[in-house]
Amino acid sequence: MKLLLDTANLEDIKEGMEYYPMIGVTTNPSILAKSGEPMFDHLRKIRQIIGRDKLLFAQVMGETYEEMMADAKRMVEEVDEDLHIKVPMTQEGLKAIKAMKAQGYKVLATAVFSAQQAMLAGAAGADFVAPYISRMMQAGMDAYAIIEEIAIAYEEHSIETKIIAASFKHSVQVEKCILAGSPYITATLPIYKQMLAEPLTDVAVKGFQSDWQNAFDGVLPHK
Ligand code: E4P
Repeated sequence: MKLLLDTANLEDIKEGMEYYPMIGVTTNPSILAKSGEPMFDHLRKIRQIIGRDKLLFAQVMGETYEEMMADAKRMVEEVDEDLHIKVPMTQEGLKAIKAMKAQGYKVLATAVFSAQQAMLAGAAGADFVAPYISRMMQAGMDAYAIIEEIAIAYEEHSIETKIIAASFKHSVQVEKCILAGSPYITATLPIYKQMLAEPLTDVAVKGFQSDWQNAFDGVLPHK
């Protein structure tokens, strides 16, 4: 089970990387637009925070194969060669994924809404595929069944593409995706905080503290 932060907010990235078991950061054009600063400058800042050993994803903006290839080349030159390139799962994108893989790029097929799209991404050699859970649900799709189908197809056919379930509005969706077979998750810091929050934990901790206070007058073990 591997977790990533789906944000370009530098404070959230610092907090998320410090406190949570994060292996990287995913961005998309909408997320980066919120930062209000040039894309490459901002991506370099994120890289500085997370370090080269963590995964960093950014998306091509072009719509045609040629534009996507040119975007990917520039992005890797401007950020670093470890940058993972997100490519939307269109026909132009599929051609770009094949070419990028042949040229040694690290690639994620994004904006995926079906097991069939994920199968094509897998056959094209994408390193990752990102099914959009909340958006599937809004469209009336059975998002968890789709995750399960992708996981089965990849397993049965020894496809090495990894699922990164994305687009979450609630932490329960994360739980269900992990149980449905998604080995990677990308979500915002508030979603991970929601996963952690549990009033019964707070009650338990308070109980331990007051028992200790009563018995030892507040002297802490490390003092
Ligand atoms: C995934 O890579 C996308 O950046 C993201 O999860 C999309 O989420 P949204 O549906 O909240 O925009």
